[in-house]
Formats: sequence, C-alpha cells, structure tokens
Amino acid sequence: MAAREGLALVDRDHSGVDRAFRADVLTGLRQSQKAIPARWFYDDIGSELFEDITRLEEYYPTRAETEILEARGPEFAEAIGPGRAVVEFGSGSSVKTPLLLSAIQPAAYVPLDIAGDFLREAAAALARQFPGLPVYSVEADFMRHVELPDAVSGQAKLGFFPGSTIGNMVPRTAVDLLRSMRGTLQADHGVQPMLLIGMDLVKDPAVLVAAYDDAKGVTAAFNRNLAERINRELDGTIPVDALRHVARWNDDFARIEMHLEATRAIQFSVSGERFEMAEGETIHTENSHKFTRRSANLLLHAAGWTVRRRWTDAAERFSVILAEATEPRNAP
Ligand code: AVJ
Repeated sequence: MAAREGLALVDRDHSGVDRAFRADVLTGLRQSQKAIPARWFYDDIGSELFEDITRLEEYYPTRAETEILEARGPEFAEAIGPGRAVVEFGSGSSVKTPLLLSAIQPAAYVPLDIAGDFLREAAAALARQFPGLPVYSVEADFMRHVELPDAVSGQAKLGFFPGSTIGNMVPRTAVDLLRSMRGTLQADHGVQPMLLIGMDLVKDPAVLVAAYDDAKGVTAAFNRNLAERINRELDGTIPVDALRHVARWNDDFARIEMHLEATRAIQFSVSGERFEMAEGETIHTENSHKFTRRSANLLLHAAGWTVRRRWTDAAERFSVILAEATEPRNAP
C-alpha cells in the first residue's frame, strides 16, 4: 500500500535507526568478502555527491544519455506513439524526464519513488511544466510489484528507467526487476507495454576507471560517505581515513567495481558488533555493469522484453533501448 507520509516506507526502530540499512550493513560486514548494497550510498550527502559526479569531466554517462534524449525526440515519438502513460522507475527530478515527455504525447505521467517528499516536489514541478498532463505520483519501492493508480489502468504503458541504474544489479537481480516491471506495466488487455531504458556500454577500461575514480576525488568522497553514514547512523567507529577508494574493471563480469580498501589492519564496531579488516582487505560497495548490444538484448530477453530500437550518443558510449513486452513462445 502506498504510504501518504514522507519517509513512511522507511522502517525505523525506537531510536530512529533504519532497520533495513542496519540489517544490510551487518550482514554484509559478516561476509568473508565484505559487501554493502549500493542503494545505501544515497542519503542526503550521498545524493548531493552523486549530483556532483554527474557534472565531472570524466563521468560521461549522464551527458551521453541526455545527448541521446535531446537528439532522438522525433524517433521516440514515431517508435512509441502517442497516448501512453509514462511510468518512471526512480526519481523524476532529472532533466531527462521533460525531454521524453515533450517528445512523445503521453496520456499521463506516473513517477514512482521510495522517497516521498522528494517525489512530490519533483512531480509538482513537472505538472507545472506540462499543464494538462495528468501526474500521479506513487510512493513505492519499485524493486517490488507496484499497484498503479486506477486512473491509468486502461492506458498502454511506457516504463522509463534512465541512468543505467540497471547496471548496479547483478544479472539475477536485474532480470527479477525487469520481469517485475513488466508485471507492473502489463494492462489486463490490449497493447503490450514498452520500456525505455538507459544502459551504459563496454568501452576502454581506462575510460571507465577514470569515470569512477575522478581526479578531483568526488567519487572517492561518494564511496567513503557510505562508511561515514554507517558511523553517523549505526553508531559506527570505522576509521574512514584508513579506507582507500578503489575502482577496478572486472573483465569477466564486464563491470566496474568500487571497493573501500583498508590501508592498514583495522578494527571497528557497528551497532555494537565488532569487525576487523586486514591490510588490503576490501568492502565491496558497488557494481556498475557495462553492456554490449548483445548482452543488453540478452538481459532484456531473459526478462520477457524484446528490443525494438536502440540509440547511442555520437561517441557510442551509452545506449538508450526501446523494448516491448513479448509473450513467451516455443521457438526452435
Ligand atoms: C547512478 C548507478 C548510474 O553506476 O554510474 C556513479 C552510480 N557510482 N559513480 C553509476 C555511480 C559511482 C551510477 N548510477
């Protein structure tokens, strides 16, 4: 059930601790390869640091995707057609959404986000920018099945998932999400849903590593903020100065990995539980998968989506893909 209060989706204990954050951190730190899900980067400080990242010289994805959305409006209109309800998975605060909405003639705009206050502000700004476009914001965790508002139940849907956020997920989780999106967008009858999704492309590892280890150290600050957030919110004693930001290319899985590496042996506690790290040991904090045309097709196909169109920026760094839900069928 969509909550109507700000932050109502966050389950806090009596002292205000986000239970899911604590559970993910403690479970992750107990593993032999320590790991914390990347979604926890985005507290207020982390969200601002990410905004700074998108403006860095080395960080091309945001600019490349925006270039595609700016250049391909008429082609989107032609391939998507008018009259769809656009369902955006994640915050609609970016400049990307207006580019899409002004290119096609949508019947409605439905932004889904877990952060209620932020969602309502972004939705109100969009409604002002597009008078006459019905906007229905839904506070929801889009990793689960979402019940869309009745007002759009009869309308064909276009899912919108820009930013290559799908790249943060390992294939199993990505397929689960893409399949669950298909369920969310499926109408009871009639036109198959479509999905417009941004996916970053495999390229020279040196370019990729630079995008995740910038000269100004903004990405390093973004990564370290996770440890600082643990100290702030979970009564942690992590010596953050003994953690080094590492971005490395994992060629087997075609992904950039971010880690926090101990520069010396350290001990610390989180929520009263003791942990230690040997010198050189890491906490794995993020995967950012990069795709080829074929690997993107395969991932989408595994989740019941067939690629209809694909666009890249002029330098072929990033792709925006239009897929259509397809019925499973027997095939040779
Ligand atoms: C927001 C997931 C698309 O993986 O490129 C940027 C996050 N991490 N720099 C990405 C991120 C480090 C970003 N996404």
